[in-house]
Amino acid sequence: MRILTLSGSLRTRSTNGALLRAAQSLAAADGAETTSADIGGLPHFNPDLDAEGAVAPAPVAALRKSVAEADAVLLVSPEYAHGVPGVLKNALDWLVSSGEFIDRRVGVITASPSPTGGDYANAQLRETLRMMTGTVVEGACLMVGTIRSKLDSTTDEITDPVLTAQLTAALKALTAP
Ligand SMILES: Cc1cc2nc3c(=O)[nH]c(=O)nc-3n(C[C@H](O)[C@H](O)[C@H](O)COP(=O)(O)O)c2cc1C
Repeated sequence: MRILTLSGSLRTRSTNGALLRAAQSLAAADGAETTSADIGGLPHFNPDLDAEGAVAPAPVAALRKSVAEADAVLLVSPEYAHGVPGVLKNALDWLVSSGEFIDRRVGVITASPSPTGGDYANAQLRETLRMMTGTVVEGACLMVGTIRSKLDSTTDEITDPVLTAQLTAALKALTAP
C-alpha cells in the first residue's frame, strides 16, 4: 500500500505538518509505504499550460506521477479565511484534467488552533475531490480542533492519545481493502 501525502501548509513549524509526519509514522508502522509531494514549487495553474498536447512543467509532471503511483492520497491542511490554502488548491487544479484522482482513495484532514478544526476547508476539499471523481473515504476525513493543545510544544509530537487513535482509525479506513 502506497500513501501519498500532501500538505496545505508551507510553514516550517506547521501543526498540519506535524500531523502529517505522525500519520506517516503510523502508516509506516502498519506496513504502508509513504511518500510526500512538494507542492510549494508548482507554477500557478494556467489552462494555457494545460491545453491538449501541452508538455506539463516538470514539477507538475512529477506531481501527476506521484498521484498516479499512489494507492491512496492523504491531504492534511489548515484553513485560510474559511477556505483552502492557495498552494493546495493550485496543486488540485493541476490534477483536474489529467485525471489522476479518478477513483483514487483520498482522505482529508484539516487542523486548526480554533475548535472548528477547519470545517470550511475540509468541506470544500471533499467537494472539489468529489468533483474530480476521487473516492473520498469519509472514515479518513478528520477535523482536528485546538491542535496546539494536542502537540508537544517543543517536539511537535502528538501528546493527545485520542488524536493518535483518531489518526490511526483514519489511516485504517484509508487503506481498507
Ligand atoms: C491568512 C490566514 C488565515 C487564516 N484563516 C483561518 C480560518 O479561516 N480558520 C481557522 O480555523 N484558522 C485560520 N487561520 C489560522 C490557522 O489555522 C493557523 O495559523 C494554523 O496554525 C495554520 O496551520 P499550520 O500550523 O499547519 O501552518 C488563518 C491563518 C492565516 C495565516
